[in-house]
Amino acid sequence: MALKIALLGFGTVASGLPFLLEENGDKIRAAFGDDLEIAKILVRDDNEVNRLKENGHSYQFVTSIDDILNDPEIAIVVELMGRIEPAKTYILATLNAGKHVVTANKDLIALHGPEIQESAKAKGLAFYYEAAVAGGIPILRTLANSFTSDKIQRVLGVLNGTSNYMMTKMVDQGWTYEEALSKAQALGYAESDPTNDVEGIDAAYKVAILSQFAFGMTIAFENVSHQGISTITAEDVAVAQELGYVIKLVGRVEETASGILADVSPTFIPKKHPLASVNDVMNAVFVESIGIGQSMFYGPGAGQKPTATSVMADIIRIAHRLEDKTVGKAFNEFSRPTKLANKEDKCSHYYFAIETPDKTGQLLRIATIFNEQKISFRQVLQEKAQEGRARLVIITHMMNQLQLEAVQSQINQESDFKLLNAFKVLGE
Ligand code: HSE
Repeated sequence: MALKIALLGFGTVASGLPFLLEENGDKIRAAFGDDLEIAKILVRDDNEVNRLKENGHSYQFVTSIDDILNDPEIAIVVELMGRIEPAKTYILATLNAGKHVVTANKDLIALHGPEIQESAKAKGLAFYYEAAVAGGIPILRTLANSFTSDKIQRVLGVLNGTSNYMMTKMVDQGWTYEEALSKAQALGYAESDPTNDVEGIDAAYKVAILSQFAFGMTIAFENVSHQGISTITAEDVAVAQELGYVIKLVGRVEETASGILADVSPTFIPKKHPLASVNDVMNAVFVESIGIGQSMFYGPGAGQKPTATSVMADIIRIAHRLEDKTVGKAFNEFSRPTKLANKEDKCSHYYFAIETPDKTGQLLRIATIFNEQKISFRQVLQEKAQEGRARLVIITHMMNQLQLEAVQSQINQESDFKLLNAFKVLGE
């Protein structure tokens, strides 16, 4: 008998599942010895049902979750609606109804993952979400399985396809921010509200999930600091180029002496670093560990088919576990008490762009501020002065969060200085 699944939502990713079933049905069938059937699809309302039918879809569309919850033949429910509600209520109800759940909803997992995982565990059900991080890259299962004997020290990632695509097109093709965003939306990369993509929130959700798999620690979302691409200026991009870097939105999770740190921010990456060549919608997760050393996992971070492929992998995994009678096992079994890093241990090199009056003695004033915090300079550059103002660019040696805050506050207190930007710089 075919294994029956139901889909919640029929947007970009969900509508990629039929493609895989049609194009790769034989292999999928061989993988778990039976047919996989999309038995029901939940959509918003009757208008949506009519629209989908007019577009030639012949699935059984329903508008009430109860039609799925009360169907004893449906074994797996795939939530692809996104956002928190009603997705959370529907997933919990699905688990209560004794059905396994697959989702790609990183917002939900980052914000409410433990509650849902507890519910799944208590009922011996599967709750899988490979597609939630880095779209088509099978990174979560790799961290959960292949890194079991390794100790991860740091994970760095280009984790948002939309913002990476936008930055690449703006820099390489000279597109405006608006042009790049609307093309990313048209290609199905962006979230329904792209604020999360460009403000680093989507990447921060993924960082929170990566922390569970790489370090066994659950970080509350408010402890993942995030800054998006909207603060990056053309001048920052040009100076990065001049100094041998590219700027990308980078997510970081790192274990320090005092605990874990997690953040997302525009970051200068040396052109020789493997992450520097991750362009367009591509994502990459760069792992530093004591066993493997450095490894990088690369692939499309958004888009219909890549993300649907990861969703399908979860479905097939559940089918196998059903067969093996091991279905209650958690997606990720690595768990330790969460300890957050002290500010002294949150370290990075930094790039500062500071506007000063264009007259003698300004560099000395700036140097004094950094010197008081015992921060040394690695590179200093003065950009052309305009209208009596100069733009100083400084790349520092390693400094910590306390030093950063002190320097920022000191610069902001000088009324004729303007701190334009301060971004992290990745060491070589
Ligand atoms: N909007 C997300 C991105 C989709 O652009 O990466 C995948 O999470």
